[in-house]
Amino acid sequence: MTDDFKIFAQPGNADPIQRVLLAGITGYLGGFIALELQKRGYYVRAIGRHLERLKRRPICADEAIEVDLTKPDTLEHCCKNVDTVISTVGITRQKDGLSYKDVDYQANMNLLQQAIHDNVKSLSMFLF
Ligand SMILES: NC(=O)c1ccc[n+]([C@@H]2O[C@H](COP(=O)([O-])OP(=O)(O)OC[C@H]3O[C@@H](n4cnc5c(N)ncnc54)[C@H](OP(=O)(O)O)[C@@H]3O)[C@@H](O)[C@H]2O)c1
Repeated sequence: MTDDFKIFAQPGNADPIQRVLLAGITGYLGGFIALELQKRGYYVRAIGRHLERLKRRPICADEAIEVDLTKPDTLEHCCKNVDTVISTVGITRQKDGLSYKDVDYQANMNLLQQAIHDNVKSLSMFLF
């Protein structure tokens, strides 16, 4: 876990109404971040490209929305009413015929642009 994350989520300092959008919860890093956010009392909205995968996780986000980050038109509502956006989306073992540029760069850029459009207060934790 990075120092930035510790600054963002000081023990005992979590505001329960802080709402976090987390992309990548079905992955290794995203799963740990979700657990930590929940432990500290944050409201977690999970987004992912397969709703059934989001529901299969042992970690229960407060809400889950199916979104394909490679398709900007599916992102329209995902950043509404969140304070912070965190993304750990990236290709590791996925074999979808997509390139690192498509996912690590462009998919995250699509989410970043949507978050800026929706005036999300904190993008400082946006991870690539
Ligand atoms: N783990 C580490 O120690 C570590 C260290 C340094 C850097 N990183 C980098 O951090 C990122 C995340 O690592 P990780 O270990 O958590 O990887 P991971 O377990 O493979 O998780 C990747 C996440 O990205 C999502 N994703 C992949 N392709 C996608 C696409 N086309 N559209 C939407 N979502 C997509 C996956 O969703 P699906 O479930 O839908 O596939 C999953 O939630 C990677 O870029 C990795 O290189 C990881």
